[in-house]
Amino acid sequence: MPAPMMDTYSPPDLVFDHGKGTRLYTEAGDAYLDFISGIAVNCLGHAHPKAVAALNEQAGKLWHLSNMFKVPKGIELAEKLCAATFADRVFFTNSGAEAMECALKTARRYHFVNGNPQRYRIITFTGAFHGRTFGAINAGGNPKYLEGFGPAMEGFDQVEFGDLDAVKNAVTEETAAICVEPVQGEGGVRAPEDSFLRGLRQICDEHGLMLIFDEVQSGAGRTGKLFAHQWVEGAEPDIMAAAKGIGGG
Ligand SMILES: Cc1ncc(COP(=O)(O)O)c(C=O)c1O
Repeated sequence: MPAPMMDTYSPPDLVFDHGKGTRLYTEAGDAYLDFISGIAVNCLGHAHPKAVAALNEQAGKLWHLSNMFKVPKGIELAEKLCAATFADRVFFTNSGAEAMECALKTARRYHFVNGNPQRYRIITFTGAFHGRTFGAINAGGNPKYLEGFGPAMEGFDQVEFGDLDAVKNAVTEETAAICVEPVQGEGGVRAPEDSFLRGLRQICDEHGLMLIFDEVQSGAGRTGKLFAHQWVEGAEPDIMAAAKGIGGG
C-alpha cells in the first residue's frame, strides 16, 4: 500500500511524538535539537506553558466563528498589531500564502475603487518566495515552483533584488504595486541595503503605487524588532503580510 501522505519534502523515516522548548522527541524517545522550528514558525518553542494555557483556555470557551463575527481576543490582537506598526486595520486569514493573496488583491482593489482598474501589474524580485498558492507562486516567479502548473499568471514584472534602477524602469501606467520581502528568507536570508527599502517607498510615493512587504518569514521578532522593516526609517509599507511566528506556531 502506498504511504498515505504525500512526501512533498521527502521527510526522513522519523516520527516525532512531542516537543519541549527547543527539543523534539521521537516515538522511540530520541531527542533532537529543533533548528527548523516548523520553518520559522514556533518562535516560542514547543509546548511553551503560557501558549498551552492560552490555547486551552480559548478552546474551552469558543472555537471558530469565521470572519462574520467578532471575538474579543481577535480584536485585542488587531489593536496590538496596529499599535505596534504602521497599520490602521488588520485582516485575519489562515496562512502566510493567504495573507499574501490578500495583500496582492488589496493593492489591485485599491486602484480599482479609485477608478484605475488598468493598474494591476505588480513588481516583484528575483529570489522571492511568497507561498505556494497560484497567486503566490506567480508572485515569487521561481521556475522550480511554477513548473507543471500550467501557464504563468499574467501581471507580475520581476526585477533584480536590490536594483532600484531596474524598479524605476519597470514602472508603467499599469503598475499597481511593488511587493518585496524586507529580508528574503527562502532566497538565502538576503537583507538589502536600507537605501533600497527607502527607495522603494519613494518610488511608490512618486507614482501612487502600493508598497507591499511580505514579512511572513522576517517578522514576529526574528530580526530583533517586531518586523524587519522597522530597522529602516522612512520605509513603511502600505500593506504587509505577517504569519508564521505571529501565532506562536
Ligand atoms: C516570505 C514568505 N512568504 C510567504 C510564505 C508562505 O507562508 P505559509 O507557508 O504560511 O503559507 C512563506 C513561507 O515560508 C515565506 O517565507
